[in-house]
Parts: sequence; structure tokens; C-alpha cells
Amino acid sequence: MKLIKKILLLSLLNGSVVLFAQEPELADLLQNIESREKISLDGNWDVIIDPLENGYYNHWLTPKKEGYNVNKKMKSPSDLIEYNFDTSPQLTVPGDWNTQMEKLYYYEGTIWYKKDFSYTPEADEQVYLYFEAVNYEAMVYLNGELLGTHIGGYTPFQFDISNKIKNGNNFIVVKVDNKRKRENVPTLNQDWWNYGGITRSVHLISMPVSHIADYSVQLAKGKNDTIEGWVKVKNSAPGQTVRVTIPELNQDVTLPLENGKAAFSLEVSPTLWEPDNPKLYEVLIETGSDHLKDNIGFRTIETRGSSILLNGKNIFLKGISIHEEAPFKTGRVTSKEECLILLNWAKELGCNFIRLAHYPHNETMVREAEKMGLMVWSEIPVYWTILFDNPDTYTNAENQLVTMISRDKNRAAIVLWSLANETPESDARYAFISKLAQKVRSLDQTRLITAALDSQTEGENGNIIEDRLGEVIDVIGINSYCGWYGGSPESCATLRWASKFDKPMIMSEVGGGALYGLHGETNERWTEEYQADVYLNNIEMIRHIDFLAGISPWILMDFRSPRRSLNRIQDDFNRKGLISEQGRKKQAFFILQDFYLNENNQF
Ligand code: GCU
Repeated sequence: MKLIKKILLLSLLNGSVVLFAQEPELADLLQNIESREKISLDGNWDVIIDPLENGYYNHWLTPKKEGYNVNKKMKSPSDLIEYNFDTSPQLTVPGDWNTQMEKLYYYEGTIWYKKDFSYTPEADEQVYLYFEAVNYEAMVYLNGELLGTHIGGYTPFQFDISNKIKNGNNFIVVKVDNKRKRENVPTLNQDWWNYGGITRSVHLISMPVSHIADYSVQLAKGKNDTIEGWVKVKNSAPGQTVRVTIPELNQDVTLPLENGKAAFSLEVSPTLWEPDNPKLYEVLIETGSDHLKDNIGFRTIETRGSSILLNGKNIFLKGISIHEEAPFKTGRVTSKEECLILLNWAKELGCNFIRLAHYPHNETMVREAEKMGLMVWSEIPVYWTILFDNPDTYTNAENQLVTMISRDKNRAAIVLWSLANETPESDARYAFISKLAQKVRSLDQTRLITAALDSQTEGENGNIIEDRLGEVIDVIGINSYCGWYGGSPESCATLRWASKFDKPMIMSEVGGGALYGLHGETNERWTEEYQADVYLNNIEMIRHIDFLAGISPWILMDFRSPRRSLNRIQDDFNRKGLISEQGRKKQAFFILQDFYLNENNQF
């Protein structure tokens, strides 16, 4: 009897109507590691800085039989081994290497990381080695053996090491390389520091052989009275079932697993997640001896003409853009506390929305934003001039996209998947990004697709949005720097916009730079007064865009960039923050705050 009918029959028997959701081809990535039993491998790792990749290649540039991955030790006094992790310097994981060691500030290349750990395997156990992110290329070895490689600096990856981990001493070696390459994503030029290293946490995750690998629990598309979902269980046994419970909604279903999968649909109307009431429900999933819990919100997001509707109601996205730059210490964000500092500043600004630029930020950032009622724009680093006609570049971009969606698909806060930022118009670019959009639509029908464009045409009566990508995306992001990269601040107040598309626009970037504490006339660059004037006039411009559904000015906090070398002003920092990297609020912060908190007629 065909599978769907069997499951339908079985679920009808236990009272929940089942829709067999064709489970999308997501990344093979454990969902919700936050709630998993895990051993942290964070802390100090021994490192070898290897600019010539001497630990990998021989003098003929062919891979060595035994590279630094084997962590070779002297056996006899005459042995020749020209490296030794145990006497080498250390770097802290998670963290970038550029802000940890003066001599690594500009370093782009290979660094070998080594970590020893002792392990006592348990019966009936599956063990994963999970990296939350490594920038950019990682070759991972366990006890000298290659587990695999990963490219892309901002997405998680894992290895099943159940049959490789030893009882007792083990060692992991990771060859990390953050060299920029033309075919990479992002490519050679970017306006943020290319922080290298094992930039996010590393975990050993142990679970029963038969375990919950992945799941999705969301409102059915366009419905607020039906929760739909599926669960994927690895190594399930014949007749094994999975139980999904949402206690607060009195939902409790037990489903048969078919090939390790089960789907469900629950007729129930949850309180919907929204900025003023970011309601999350505890969801429990159990199978065999494995169980986990998640806190999930339910909301609908859609467009209607040039409006964005959250839970069926018009909403204006009062946002700010954020880079994953740590406040005060600078470098990559490495802690929940740093995430909270950034998010609390956004809340203080009056935001209900944040644009996490230009790459997927760490999972904690997204989860904490969700708890705070901040809607999220999440983006992959298809940034500026990547090689749109290179198939490997496409595969790389698509992998980052699929992993981003896989990791965060249960986060109600994420309302927009962004596919690109400021990419030059071309047929190859159109095809590349259209294909990515199709991929999103095949994976997730519950969110909107966007991209940040800077291709507006300057017409007689103002700027016109007519970039072909406008056909492909649901919401049109526009980066505009009136009063900074072009025009005087005053000219912005009368600048008008038109669009070829009956779609919502988000001003995804707008703003100007200022050095905190530098004061002067409004026409003096880099003063707080100049930046404030840019904001005042752009806010006036924004008031006149009737198809505008939100803004995310550039940017919450000054951040490090190798493109910003104006001494005594920039000093390697992009100064468009409303707050300095040392947490000092500039005048423009209060102008935008006033716009968000007091402009009731607009929102
Ligand atoms: C661009 C880009 C940002 C950059 C900003 C700037 O629009 O998207 O990454 O930092 O402009 O010039 O400050």
C-alpha cells in the first residue's frame, strides 16, 4: 500500500491529520545543537602558522604523505621533525586569529590548529564532530586521518566520527585557510575584515545511534490555524515511532516512521509570534531513547502589493544592519553576551527588524533576536563581483544557502532570505541568482526572498528601480548612499523614488560615516553633525516613498574593514556606525531612534 496512504491511515487512527510533506533536500546537519548533549572543544588550541602550506605540500607542491595532520612525535633523538604543536603558540577557539596576535593582524593564509581530547565511548552511541563555522576553508583530521573539507566561512558543518573516535586520547587537526580567491564566495574584495580561524564553537555531540537528525515545525504556508512539520530520524528500526508534543497547545502526536521520516499537520491556532509579543512554544520531539526540545514561534509573512504583512497585518520594518563584529574587543563575535549587547542596542534604537550582513551570523544571534521580537534578514555572501559564470562558485553559493536555511528553518524571527548584495547586472548574474531563488522556493515556502541592489537608475524625477532581479525576488532591497557617496545631504530630502515593480522595497542600506567625538559644521565630513544631517535628510526622503516597507540603515556599529585606511579617522574601521566600536553613541543614533519611536503616523 502506497506510503502516503499508509501514513494517512495511521495518523487518522491517532487523531492528527497528516500531510506527507515531501521533505526538502536540506543539508545533512543536526538540527538544534543547542539542546543536544555535547562536549565543548572550545578553548586554547595549539597552532602552527604556515604561510607556504609547508605542512601540506612538499617542495614540488604535491600533497605530502604525512603532513602536519599526523602530529608526528620524535621517537629517537635523531628523528627529523620540523614542527611540534606541543611547543607551538596557542589561539583561542572560538575566535579569529587577526585580533588575537599582533603578527596575525593582516594574516591571510594557512594556520594549523590542533586539539587533544580524551574520550570514553558509550554503548549505542553516535558521535558527531560539529563546527559552527571556520573561515574560510577547513581540512579536518581526526587522529591523523582526513574526515573531510568544508568551504564557506559562516555556516556549520559536521562529521560522523562514531567509527573513528578512540577510547582514550584523540587529537583533532584542522588546516584553516582564509586566503581570498576569485572563485570564492565572497570573492577577492569585501568591505569587512577577512577574520580567519575557527571563529565559532566546536562540539563533540553524542547521541543514541537512532536519533533525531532533523525536523521542521512551522505554520502551514499562508495559514495561521495549521502547524505542519516533519521529523527525520537516523538509524530508525522497523515499527519505530516518533512523538511530537506541544504541551501548551495540547498537541501530542505519535507517528510511524517510514524510512526514518514522518510528517504531521496539526489543526491548532497558536498565539502568533510578533515583535510586541515574541511568543515561543516549547516543542518536544522523542523517538527511541533520543529526545530534544526547541522553542518555536509561529507567524505568517507575506507581501501584498508593496506591503509586507506579518500575521496578515501590514508592518513597517524598523531596522538596522549589523556586522558580526564584537563590541569593545572587536574581531568576530564569540559570545552570547556580545550578541546581546548588539541586539539590545538595536532594541534601544526602537527596531523591530535587523539585517544580519553579509553572511549567516551565529545561531545564538538569531535565537536571541527571536526572543527579543526582532525580525531577521539573513544573507549569504554573494557580494559584489563574484564569478557568476563559474559553476563551482554557484555550487558553493548554493551550499551556503542550503545550510543557512537548514540551520535556521525553525526560527520564526527570520522573515527574509537574502541571496546577494550589490551585484552588477548581467545575464550570468540574473541566471545565478534566479537559480538560487528557485532553490529557496523548493526548500522553504514560509519566508520571503530578497537581495540588496544598488542598480537604481537616476531619472529626471529621481531614482527608478528597474533591475531585472526585481522580477525574481519578493522584496526589493535597495542600498542608497545619498548625501555620502553622491549628492549633498540636503539634496536627499527632495530625492524621489519610483519602481517598475509592484513589490515592497526595503532601504537595506542608507547612511554616512562619522568619527565618534569629532564635531563641526554639518558640511564637514566625518563629523557627527554631517552624519546626523545625512540621516535627517534621508529620513525626509524615506517619508515620500509610498512603496517602502522598511529600512535597515548601514550600520549599527563601526566595524573593521581593510578598505578603510584614512588615518586618525577610519584606522581600518568603516565609520558608518551609529555607535563606535567602543560603544559610544553618535548623534545620528538619536535621530534614527526618534524616527522609530515617535513617528507613529508612519508605522
Ligand atoms: C556597500 C556594502 C557594504 C559597505 C557599504 C559602505 O553598500 O554593501 O558592505 O560596507 O556599502 O560603503 O560602507
